[in-house]
Amino acid sequence: MAGGLPKQRDSVGASDSRDVASRWRRGAAVRADALSPLTDAMFELAGVTVGSRVLDVGAGTGDQTVLAAHRVGPSGAVLATDVSASMLQVARDAVREAGLGNVQTRTLAAEQMSELEARSFDAAIARFSLQFVGDVGRALAGVRRALKPGGRFAAVVFSAVEKNPSARRHRRSPVAWPVGRSLNRGPVSGHSTIR
Ligand SMILES: C[S@@+](CC[C@H](N)C(=O)[O-])C[C@H]1O[C@@H](n2cnc3c(N)ncnc32)[C@H](O)[C@@H]1O
Repeated sequence: MAGGLPKQRDSVGASDSRDVASRWRRGAAVRADALSPLTDAMFELAGVTVGSRVLDVGAGTGDQTVLAAHRVGPSGAVLATDVSASMLQVARDAVREAGLGNVQTRTLAAEQMSELEARSFDAAIARFSLQFVGDVGRALAGVRRALKPGGRFAAVVFSAVEKNPSARRHRRSPVAWPVGRSLNRGPVSGHSTIR
């Protein structure tokens, strides 16, 4: 992409292939189960609640988008963004299947968040996407700009494998322990924070 934005990569991290999108979608049930506590913690940290207008960064096939949309209810709304149009197409299908009318999608790299209306979201979330973002500083500045005063951002990201108690115990998983991050809150047990 031009202007320092990420190039499309041939992985689930930043691919525009339909094949990758449908593979990711097939794993949705397994992920929903395994990731439920992390996803709930992310919603709590970001203050996603009834009536919230939520920005979802790197929404992918929309697993957490659908959950957030249920959580905010008809009086709230979720904007699902992703650099991959194919991933968002699958997300739209999931939203339709769930019968939700409070979700919009927009193909937008995390580094392009400054294109969103300033001070227009109550909360922002990013699940397993920030680690793929080339210019995290630019992305976070855009997210901050898009949040209303007092609005919060929380992300779940992969950390280093040595910080993953599960990987150490079982010596089998290359997946690292996800770390929740919030822009506007102090430390929460089991999560690290950034300001
Ligand atoms: C591992 S998937 C996670 C998807 C979803 N959030 C979830 O937890 O199921 C990572 C997502 O990040 C997106 N992504 C990668 N780089 C990005 C960028 N620079 N801006 C926005 N999205 C990006 C990918 O297209 C992909 O959909």
